Amino acid sequence: MDLPTPLRRVFAAMPDATLGAFAPGRVNLIGEHTDYSGLPVLPFALPFGVAIAARPRHDDLVCLRHLEPDRFAAAVIPRAELANRPRTGTWVDYVVAGLRCQPPANGVDLLLGADLPIAAGLSSSAALVCAAALLFAPRDVDRLHLAEQCAAAERYVGTEAGGMDQAAALLGQPGHALFLHFRPLRATAVPLPHSAAVVVADSGVRAEKGGALQAAYNERVHQCRRAASLLGAPAGGLLGDVPTSQWAASAALADPLLRRRAGFVFAEAARTSAAVAALRQGDLPELGRLLTSSHRGLTDDYEVGHPAVDALVRAAHAAGAFGARIVGAGFGGSAIALGTRETAAAIAAAMRAAGAVSTFVAEPSAGACRVAGPKAAPNAG
Ligand code: GLA
Repeated sequence: MDLPTPLRRVFAAMPDATLGAFAPGRVNLIGEHTDYSGLPVLPFALPFGVAIAARPRHDDLVCLRHLEPDRFAAAVIPRAELANRPRTGTWVDYVVAGLRCQPPANGVDLLLGADLPIAAGLSSSAALVCAAALLFAPRDVDRLHLAEQCAAAERYVGTEAGGMDQAAALLGQPGHALFLHFRPLRATAVPLPHSAAVVVADSGVRAEKGGALQAAYNERVHQCRRAASLLGAPAGGLLGDVPTSQWAASAALADPLLRRRAGFVFAEAARTSAAVAALRQGDLPELGRLLTSSHRGLTDDYEVGHPAVDALVRAAHAAGAFGARIVGAGFGGSAIALGTRETAAAIAAAMRAAGAVSTFVAEPSAGACRVAGPKAAPNAG
């Protein structure tokens, strides 16, 4: 098996590692800001992500280092403190969240490396959590269950996020998007038509999950819960608990802000199902239309857009994309554009000319993996 690049790098820097894990980032085709309302999403795993190499220690410490120590400061945590460690607002919190799902049995040295831009709407944080959780998980771990555990554990960082990113990281399948339903998590793999190309363009505007974005994100989670309760969901219920026949009632919500938020979420959920049908029919123009109306809703009604990403979306349209939209939590980060293998290069060039700091064509890839390290016992891994 070809090892993902960051896994090769951490093994090269820790040649006595006994174990390694890799978890990818994701793009979400459609179904944005629906997961925490218990409504479906349609992401796929990227070939880029986060890797961790591990070797045992003779004490009870968990020592974390990163290949980029200037950006990501090292940390030493007594193993017994993993469960109760207060959050620090750094990358270490995400590793701790993952290790809490499947803690190491002894002290360990961990070395991390990544080839995924952070805070670009591509879910680098969930990749950290999932790589850490998979490292010490049993070989036959139930990945659906682990993804749910990782999503719950990641809330310790303070973002009341849904479960899309962790599911995409752990369940990704080459060539396929994942139609995910929640509570409980279920995944159906839907092939991406061979002719389709999904261009990802990073606006360079960082959308840090732990920063100001966190409050704005959580505010939307709370607005959706309030709208759910006004629309008759049971106590503690979500917009996903409101029967489809009642969705139109959101237009009658008295509070104009809640009306727009809930209206967006229901429309986005309907677009997600329509996108699955379009994918199955190979109808790229229809899929593109759905992406574009998702972008409009995210910008106008959900208010998670950003002018720099808007510029990328407009450029993609002008270069012949079927559709384009902001991806991930929003407030900056990346745009995706749907084209064909023939048009992808021109779309990417137009998005760079409109300010993107980097572009790539995203290939749906395999989910996280755990492998034996260079110095593993023969039956490890
Ligand atoms: C972030 C969260 C996800 C999801 C998206 C928006 O990536 O982690 O759970 O809510 O935002 O769709």
